[in-house]
Amino acid sequence: MRAFIWGKFPHLFLNLAFCVAIAQSSATALPRIGSSPRAPYEIDWGKVSEDSRGCVKCHVSKGITGSAIRDWQLSKHFGAGVACADCHLPAKDAAPAITGASSACEDKRVRRAVSPRNCAVCHPDQFGQFSQGKHAAAWLAMTAMPTTAEQPKAIIEGEKGCGGCHRIGRDEGKCDSCHTRHLFAAAEARRPEACMTCHMGFDHPQWEMYSTSKHGSIYATQGARWDWNLKLANWFDNPEKASLERPRAPVCSSCHMPQGDHTVGTAWGFLALRLPEKDPEWLGYRQKILIGLGVLTPEGQPTARLDVVKVGKVARLSAEEWQAARDRMIAVCANCHARTFAQQNLEAADSIIKESDKLMAEAIDIVEGLYRDGILERPKDRPPHPDLLRFYEVKCPIEQKLYTMFLEHRMRSFQGAFHMNPDYQHWYGWAEMKRDLYEIRHEAEALRASRGKSSSGR
Ligand code: HEC
Ligand code: HEC
Ligand code: HEC
Ligand code: HEC
Ligand code: HEC
Ligand code: HEC
Ligand code: HEC
Ligand code: HEC
Repeated sequence: MRAFIWGKFPHLFLNLAFCVAIAQSSATALPRIGSSPRAPYEIDWGKVSEDSRGCVKCHVSKGITGSAIRDWQLSKHFGAGVACADCHLPAKDAAPAITGASSACEDKRVRRAVSPRNCAVCHPDQFGQFSQGKHAAAWLAMTAMPTTAEQPKAIIEGEKGCGGCHRIGRDEGKCDSCHTRHLFAAAEARRPEACMTCHMGFDHPQWEMYSTSKHGSIYATQGARWDWNLKLANWFDNPEKASLERPRAPVCSSCHMPQGDHTVGTAWGFLALRLPEKDPEWLGYRQKILIGLGVLTPEGQPTARLDVVKVGKVARLSAEEWQAARDRMIAVCANCHARTFAQQNLEAADSIIKESDKLMAEAIDIVEGLYRDGILERPKDRPPHPDLLRFYEVKCPIEQKLYTMFLEHRMRSFQGAFHMNPDYQHWYGWAEMKRDLYEIRHEAEALRASRGKSSSGR
């Protein structure tokens, strides 16, 4: 039987034997099974330095990282003679996490991770702006969360979960987050899809909100005709000029990186907690939220977490700082809309935050009351009140509900308002917050009834 098969299909046997032989022949250079012998590829070296030619020659001869070499040749860097050694031999002031790392390359000076300080040698403006903005703080903000220490290493260090998005701030910054290696094309980064991998989903669905907004629908129907090589600073030159190539709807980059400014940061920020607050009613709600976040004690005293808020630029800490970011945004809208239209639109969104905070404050207060009255146990290793920064690492369903109300539904309620998406604002945000609040009230009553205690003065 066996002899019959090999007799009938001798090529099968030969192929198999060949595959085994080449797989054993070399551990480092894995041949591509089925590919014909490689014709030597001629590179037009131009201005490329001797050092970098050495990298490419060895990598080509071993048949490794061919797509990196392809993309690099298609980039503007190639024409300018910027090559492998310029980025992969770490700058002197690169972070120790890079200089101290080991390398899989045969040239042991090489590091896989690239420091933004290498880019800064030639692009000091972009590096300087990026470093002042929120993206540069992303790794720090993630590691400062108490939840982070409780997660498997692969989720953080291995960049599978939180770390996969927050890497944008790792080792002082990952510049390949929007213009991917090794093409490093500005045109790619201008498009809204460049942001979607990170700005999506559970607590910040900006991609979903934008792409189904009126702005996004115009981009989807007409964006293919627009000139993506046009610098953002020139998008609104001669706005009256009749041209189908000029973008007539905004995208993420044109609203958040006007003029190509790499400092990203909005007036309200992710958590929408500005300090100080002139409106006393709103301030009351916000204090409750800050207690829930563990930034203030239940008595209203600041905790050590306030320092994290400052270093991570989590909240705008002065009225001037908030107003400057808002004015910058209105100036963007005013490239296309009447200024008053834009102003009124953003003010309506501001008031959505206040309404959402009112619901949120009540919910936090209910759960805090359960702690106060001993219905919920005070955990020894945790603050004696609901802790929103523990995310899903909480023990009882009522606190799980409180966390989704805060991180999923409160976020959608105001982020949807800022991204002109009525459905996210309403059905995925506000309506869900209402449901959460009713369920939290109901569950608190049930918990109290089961322990035979009534609410303390509420
Ligand atoms: C003598 C051959 C040789 C030379 C010269 C060489 N490399 Fe490599 N390089 C390799 C091999 C082999 C690997 C391992 C590939 C793998 O893991 O599949 C590698 C891996 C790399 C990696 C990934 C490293 C990691 O830790 O994951 C980078 C980046 C790299 N090389 C860049 C360079 C640069 C830049 C130069 C020139 C300064 C260079 N290489 C010179 C053979 C070479
Ligand atoms: C303009 C800067 C720049 C140049 C030029 C450059 N690289 Fe890279 N390369 C990067 C960045 C940025 C990363 C991502 C590193 C990180 O995660 O920090 C990277 C990652 C890599 C990796 C590891 C990731 C992977 O996908 O396997 C390899 C291998 C690599 N480069 C090889 C090369 C080779 C070979 C050349 C020359 C043809 C080259 N690079 C030229 C910036 C550059
Ligand atoms: C899909 C990508 C992604 C994942 C996964 C992710 N984040 Fe984020 N994170 C973001 C983005 C994007 C923002 C900014 C959102 C905004 O401003 O609306 C953010 C904001 C934050 C902030 C707020 C920072 C500030 O200054 O306001 C913290 C803290 C944070 N994330 C921690 C974490 C932790 C901890 C995890 C894992 C448990 C995690 N993130 C998972 C993308 C992600
Ligand atoms: C040795 C100098 C040098 C280094 C190092 C360098 N670049 Fe460049 N970069 C250039 C030059 C020169 C250009 C081309 C300018 C032109 O032709 O308009 C360029 C262009 C660019 C562009 C615009 C491409 C386009 O489509 O218009 C981007 C994006 C870019 N670089 C990103 C990076 C990043 C990210 C790094 C670090 C990982 C880096 N560069 C490192 C010199 C450098
Ligand atoms: C959040 C996305 C994002 C990140 C992260 C990012 N860039 Fe950019 N980059 C862009 C966009 C969008 C443009 C187009 C700007 C324009 O049209 O003026 C751009 C353009 C550039 C250009 C071309 C500028 C010009 O005038 O031609 C350079 C150079 C550049 N980036 C360097 C960097 C460096 C260095 C880093 C890391 C410190 C970085 N970028 C990180 C989005 C990003
Ligand atoms: C029409 C302009 C515009 C477009 C397009 C736009 N945004 Fe926004 N974005 C805003 C405004 C306005 C705010 C709220 C600013 C404030 O705090 O005053 C905001 C806020 C944000 C925030 C902070 C948290 C929040 O949602 O309130 C992030 C992060 C963000 N946008 C990312 C994005 C991403 C990613 C895209 C593309 C998928 C995008 N934006 C598209 C105008 C825009
Ligand atoms: C690799 C993931 C990643 C990509 C790609 C990315 N971002 Fe972000 N972005 C983040 C994270 C993480 C944060 C939160 C950082 C923090 O607050 O510490 C953030 C924060 C922001 C903020 C600040 C919101 C605030 O708190 O004021 C804006 C605005 C923003 N991103 C816009 C963009 C735009 C526009 C793009 C595309 C051109 C983009 N991002 C691409 C991960 C990313
Ligand atoms: C590049 C031009 C451009 C920019 C910048 C821009 N928009 Fe728009 N916007 C449009 C166009 C075009 C429409 C579709 C108008 C229509 O529905 O007929 C639109 C629609 C809207 C709508 C939907 C309601 C309506 O009137 O149809 C709102 C709300 C809106 N924009 C607010 C803003 C705000 C706020 C900003 C700044 C944060 C902004 N836009 C920035 C071009 C722009």
